[in-house]
Amino acid sequence: MLRGLLLASTLLLAIPLAARADDSIVGKGEYLVRAADCVSCHTVPGGHLFAGGRAFVLPGMGTLYSSNITPDPKTGIGGYNDDDWVRMLWTGVARGGKHLYPAMPYASYTKLSRDDALAIKAYLFTLKPIEYTPPANAMKFPFNQRWGMVAWNLINVSDKRFEPDTTKSAAWNRGAYLVEALGHCGECHTPRNFMQALKSDKAYAGAKQQGWLAYNISGDKNAGIGGWTDAQLAEYLSTGKAPGRGPASGPMAEAVEYSLRYLTKDDVAAMVTYLRDRPAQPDGPPAVPATVAAAAAPDPMGAHLFNQACAGCHLPTGAGRQSPWAALGGAHTAGDVTGTNLVQVLAHGTQIETDQGLMFMHSFTGGYTDRELSFIANYTIGQMSGRQGQVTPQQIGAARGPDDHKPTDPPPQVVGMR
Ligand code: HEC
Ligand code: HEC
Ligand code: HEC
Repeated sequence: MLRGLLLASTLLLAIPLAARADDSIVGKGEYLVRAADCVSCHTVPGGHLFAGGRAFVLPGMGTLYSSNITPDPKTGIGGYNDDDWVRMLWTGVARGGKHLYPAMPYASYTKLSRDDALAIKAYLFTLKPIEYTPPANAMKFPFNQRWGMVAWNLINVSDKRFEPDTTKSAAWNRGAYLVEALGHCGECHTPRNFMQALKSDKAYAGAKQQGWLAYNISGDKNAGIGGWTDAQLAEYLSTGKAPGRGPASGPMAEAVEYSLRYLTKDDVAAMVTYLRDRPAQPDGPPAVPATVAAAAAPDPMGAHLFNQACAGCHLPTGAGRQSPWAALGGAHTAGDVTGTNLVQVLAHGTQIETDQGLMFMHSFTGGYTDRELSFIANYTIGQMSGRQGQVTPQQIGAARGPDDHKPTDPPPQVVGMR
């Protein structure tokens, strides 16, 4: 399983999107496809880029698979003309009138200009057509009724292009377009109401998504990014870590790996300008100071297990050995006493491809019991934030995947950072 994952990610990376430094419509389209991160949702690890088939499990509703968006005429987007295409991105109505589910973030892409939408199409049409039909969706009644989206869209999707705010700077407006229209940051970072629509009055207040907490990134000094420096934010977005803020793991590591690290310095700076200006929301776990007095009387069992399992890469202090991505000081994830993301990292591992190679942490559920992992988690939280962690063995048990090893299995093969 672990090997499969590694192999899969290596294959995915073996077919890189070449960086194209031209300003043709295709070159522009490629950059926009990066900024909109079409690739991560439309690729299965190990599969062909953009051929689709990635599963999205919507709790209580069923499972959805992303479409093939290579230009194959039969199974992909080859049959789209310009108007079909623009309508699809702006309203979520695919060719032939099929209403897409909002897991495809057209609620954000509706803000794209027509020129940008068509540049995206122009680039995708230069790719090799792949004949591949993703698995059929397995949505439960009534969610399998696509016409249900008609009402949803009427209420929840504005179908309006981005309009610059003339009272703000050009950088602010560019940042707003990158964050709101292309980067669809709110699709993960903004909480949803009972209808699964984004709560506009809680923009960027943080939200739980597929088991991960996408933290509050509003301007709040304590819960959000109000206390970050511009340099920290820019470094985090373009590399997936920042000194005193820890690494980006899980879904955020993917956003950086496939999308944000390809953006120009100016575009990242523009995003920082816009993010800085988001109204403060107080929700979510408080920020963690970069250096804290560790828990006065650390649990000896937790200390023993941490030193055995974690210190090889993170050092006993959490300062990180060799790789700046392994530095945990100030990481929100190491100070959230509920341990939401920490449990995900322990149960599923995390990795990020960077300009210094692949940074990799394997999962630990194969080698440790739920109880041991809860000790490790609470010890980590205590050492890194001085707070009392509340992670329970039940929480770890629930995060174990269905194909997970039993703790009595031989420990997984340990693969270090390369
Ligand atoms: C957050 C995940 C996500 C991102 C990002 C994403 N998509 Fe999708 N997309 C999906 C899913 C899931 C579906 C299938 C929805 C359904 O079946 O209703 C889909 C469907 C589509 C379809 C419908 C094809 C058809 O005719 O059936 C097209 C075209 C498409 N996406 C293009 C894009 C493009 C272009 C981008 C980038 C600008 C993009 N997607 C970004 C998840 C995503
Ligand atoms: C697919 C979901 C997803 C998308 C899209 C996404 N994020 Fe995140 N983001 C997360 C998760 C989950 C975390 C927590 C990562 C961790 O635990 O290390 C996070 C963390 C962050 C953090 C660090 C916050 C902290 O307190 O440590 C910042 C800043 C951030 N995201 C900004 C953005 C911006 C800007 C965008 C849009 C360009 C974006 N994110 C898009 C899921 C997402
Ligand atoms: C093989 C090296 C390695 C080992 C062993 C390892 N880690 Fe990690 N860990 C990493 C790397 C590299 C990252 C950053 C990866 C990324 O950005 O996706 C990371 C990320 C994390 C994070 C995420 C921080 C954040 O802000 O999102 C936490 C928490 C963490 N590790 C805790 C642990 C604990 C606890 C253990 C022991 C059970 C452990 N690690 C063992 C390499 C390792």
